Amino acid sequence: MWPKLVIFACWVSYFVCALASSVSLPSGKHSNKIQPKVFIIGMFSSEGNIWHGISEFDVLAQNITVPGFSPLFQQAHCTADGSICQLVTGEGEINAAVTISALSASALFDLRTTYFLIAGIAGINPALGTVGGVTFARFAVQVGLQYEFDAREIPANFSTGYVPQGSKAPGQYPATLYGTEVFEVNDNLRQLAISFARNATLYDDANAQAYRALYANHSGWTAATQPPSIVGCDTVTSDQFFSGALLADAMSNYTSLVTNGTATYCTTQQEDNATLEALTRAALFGLVDFARIIVMRTGSNFDRPYDGQTPQEHLFSSSPGFLASIRNLHVAGAPVVLGIVEGWEKTFKRGVKPSNYVGDILGTLGGVPDFGPGSKFGGQSANATA
Ligand SMILES: *[C@@H]1O[C@H](CO)[C@@H](O)[C@H](O)[C@H]1NC(C)=O
Ligand SMILES: *[C@@H]1O[C@H](CO)[C@@H](O)[C@H](O)[C@H]1NC(C)=O
Ligand SMILES: *[C@@H]1O[C@H](CO)[C@@H](O)[C@H](O)[C@H]1NC(C)=O
Ligand SMILES: *[C@@H]1O[C@H](CO)[C@@H](O)[C@H](O)[C@H]1NC(C)=O
Ligand SMILES: *[C@@H]1O[C@H](CO)[C@@H](O)[C@H](O)[C@H]1NC(C)=O
Ligand SMILES: *[C@@H]1O[C@H](CO)[C@@H](O)[C@H](O)[C@H]1NC(C)=O
Ligand SMILES: *[C@@H]1O[C@H](CO)[C@@H](O)[C@H](O)[C@H]1NC(C)=O
Repeated sequence: MWPKLVIFACWVSYFVCALASSVSLPSGKHSNKIQPKVFIIGMFSSEGNIWHGISEFDVLAQNITVPGFSPLFQQAHCTADGSICQLVTGEGEINAAVTISALSASALFDLRTTYFLIAGIAGINPALGTVGGVTFARFAVQVGLQYEFDAREIPANFSTGYVPQGSKAPGQYPATLYGTEVFEVNDNLRQLAISFARNATLYDDANAQAYRALYANHSGWTAATQPPSIVGCDTVTSDQFFSGALLADAMSNYTSLVTNGTATYCTTQQEDNATLEALTRAALFGLVDFARIIVMRTGSNFDRPYDGQTPQEHLFSSSPGFLASIRNLHVAGAPVVLGIVEGWEKTFKRGVKPSNYVGDILGTLGGVPDFGPGSKFGGQSANATA
């Protein structure tokens, strides 16, 4: 263990820490550091607690306080051998970014070969999935990062009050990019995760079934009425928890715009782009491998009302799919975790080579994004050009 002061200095001074850990870890082995094979990332207490007291593994064997974690969730939890760990970030983009930055800069962990399983619940597009259903995303799009007019002051010829930053109307590609707008993760790894998860028998119950039935009369929403299943589809991040068909449609349009038509808006949540930005920055210094990230989101509620329900009734009603979405994080996620741990020597230790671009919209980690304006760094890593 490093003294507390050093850990704190590390956390405050990210680059010094990155340097220190690369100096102290020349051979990839360090007895004091926990070297997880899988780190499960949840965002609030229900998403964390579902991994406790389960039959497959015991992450409460080690409780590790990590400086920089949320005051509400101060500890990471790990199995006795440290191969599987779990944390809760706290909700929203700021909590997610700060917690994952603190984790990746922590001297307590060596995360260079760790797989990250983001495992949380989400709102779901009834055209693509249902409550209790489990999704694995290739793209995460930060849709809240736009200009916004109040609904009463939207220009008459605009289809929405959201306008991409640096542009003058909805539908124009954002002229100003902050760099966190879009992330793309390893699709080959995603396909493996989907194959592991498909082995699970998903939980379902009468509340979720009754809620789904309300969506049956609308053409194009067949997916909403089906029993839960495993679906590959993309996720969007916004601190704003939106409700209604118009905002869902606007976010769907923006997702398509900013990824040049590659991503399809399927689930909506409040953290993933923040987590992915923190992991991008850590990956730039070799602290984590960005090709080892899985984004799993289960549907807890639909993102828009059924026909005849107002957006207000929809937002403030109970969430009959909540239990199924929480239970299925474990039901579908445990086979993914165990698949990685059991296949470690054969496949996962050396990594699953991506055949798609992985990284952010700026090209920070090298390579050229297959969406957006291209690499800011000439296809090299940001550090190579610094
Ligand atoms: C870890 O914390 C949990 C409560 O969050 C507790 O039940 C468990 O016993 C703790 N583990 C150890 C090893 O202290
Ligand atoms: C809306 O109208 C304004 C002013 O009349 C015009 O400048 C703008 O191009 C129009 N925008 C769209 C999206 O049609
Ligand atoms: C958010 O993250 C996803 C997944 O990494 C990425 O595809 C998406 O482009 C990001 N969105 C924004 C707006 O940064
Ligand atoms: C699914 O489960 C079966 C039976 O336990 C096992 O043989 C198979 O390898 C599993 N497949 C995956 C992809 O995990
Ligand atoms: C669906 O349509 C049927 C037949 O028109 C009607 O009885 C039922 O109330 C409708 N359900 C919803 C949720 O609108
Ligand atoms: C989404 O895009 C379609 C096609 O351009 C457009 O008709 C629709 O008004 C847009 N919706 C919103 C809410 O911006
Ligand atoms: C994506 O669309 C924007 C705006 O039309 C364009 O400038 C950019 O070159 C496109 N990127 C790709 C990879 O096609």
